[in-house]
Amino acid sequence: MSEILMLNGPNLNLLGKREPDLYGKLSLSEIELHAIQQAKDNGYSLHCFQSNSESELVEQIHQTLTDDTRIILFNPAAFTHSSISIRDALLAVNKPCIEIHLSNPKAREAFRHASFISDICLGTISGFGAMSYTLAVSAAIDWLLKINPVHHTEK
Ligand code: DQA
Repeated sequence: MSEILMLNGPNLNLLGKREPDLYGKLSLSEIELHAIQQAKDNGYSLHCFQSNSESELVEQIHQTLTDDTRIILFNPAAFTHSSISIRDALLAVNKPCIEIHLSNPKAREAFRHASFISDICLGTISGFGAMSYTLAVSAAIDWLLKINPVHHTEK
């Protein structure tokens, strides 16, 4: 497994086709490939997982207890606003997490203003489309370097 885990929740498998004016034209695979390369260029490994199922996301979070994951980057999509089990899973594994959104949920419908994970994350990056992921990978690398500055970059 990898040091950085990028998780994506429901309907994000349809990126590129799903409401492109809101979420952009890039597919999730394109965003993931870019994130993997960005991490690699900085000497880190990054693993991606997407699911439409809450239980699969919870199980993937549990996996981080026994694999090499040091930080989680997470766009829980609609589960952001509904899932106590995802919040509890993040609390259970106690790994640092950065919340990601393509859109800015605070500028949208009232039901999107609440997040069940924001207050237990290092921070939230939202509103920049696919760039939100690039910024989140940069923030994760910066955080990992601060925790372990001797990590050297092998390409
Ligand atoms: C989203 C915002 C959520 O409110 C929504 O349910 C999504 C995508 C975003 O990336 O902007 O599916 O997480």
